[in-house]
Amino acid sequence: MYFLGEAWDWHILLNPYEQAVNELRVKIESYIKEFELIDQLSPIERVEGRVKRVGSILDKANRKNIPLTNFYEMAELIEDIAGVRVICRFVEDIEKVVLLLRKRNDLKILTERDYITKRKPSGYRSYHIHIRYPVTTMKGNTEVLAELQIRTMAMNYWAAIEHTLKYKYNGNIPDDVHKRLVKSAEAAFALDHEMGVIRGEIVEAHRAVEQKNDIVDKILHNMKNLFTYARLEKVDELNKEFISINEEGSLEKLNAFNQQLRMMAQLYKVDYF
Ligand code: GTP
Ligand code: MG
Repeated sequence: MYFLGEAWDWHILLNPYEQAVNELRVKIESYIKEFELIDQLSPIERVEGRVKRVGSILDKANRKNIPLTNFYEMAELIEDIAGVRVICRFVEDIEKVVLLLRKRNDLKILTERDYITKRKPSGYRSYHIHIRYPVTTMKGNTEVLAELQIRTMAMNYWAAIEHTLKYKYNGNIPDDVHKRLVKSAEAAFALDHEMGVIRGEIVEAHRAVEQKNDIVDKILHNMKNLFTYARLEKVDELNKEFISINEEGSLEKLNAFNQQLRMMAQLYKVDYF
């Protein structure tokens, strides 16, 4: 038991929270890789995480009249000492992420707050999930609380700016600045809406880029094999041809070129893609 006055060793006390943030980040980031592997645009753009700074923990405890007599009692009342943010591209991705998180059995969901269908008066939008998360340290097992915030890039941009301004003005944002913030929250909302409308095209464009990179990888692999194993003299010519086809930017032509390389590889009995 640690009591104020005996000087809490914050680094030791907060370490399980840091571990939780790190583990959760790795686990949630794994979804990005999984979607990539099946050639799908991941609903998750990136994952961020942080442990609340001691100064902010003290401020929040003070604001909420949480006594600082016992660290563990205090930590049960401050839900966001460990915070993980999942940034999505589109509003509809947020629900996909929530469904993935609900399926997990390595964390326990305590509460969910939907500030997206019901945004805050400030204009703030985000989906919040409070969880209890088990952490194993050398002292044994413990459980910490963590807050997951799931939001789009536009929601995140707005929240970050608003947070900085709130900090600057100590919570009392001047009226004119406040009005601008409300207006920019509307703009962020409109941006999310517009991006949602052209989502199909964005997904298609993403797929085209992926396909192009895949075919270029195959071509380079096949040319390397023809050069290395078949000792093909005209690989320089092939390379020039590839560069010019690539400049044209036609996926069909790249595919046809690779088909040609595959036939040559078969002829020379070397491995091909
Ligand atoms: P605090 O807002 O932290 O005192 O906790 P709470 O119990 O009121 O929970 P709430 O769900 O309102 O907020 C939790 C977290 O969401 C905050 O710590 C912020 O990170 C974020 N948040 C909530 N409201 C706003 C807001 O108006 N602007 C910004 N920038 N962030 C907000
Ligand atoms: Mg709040």
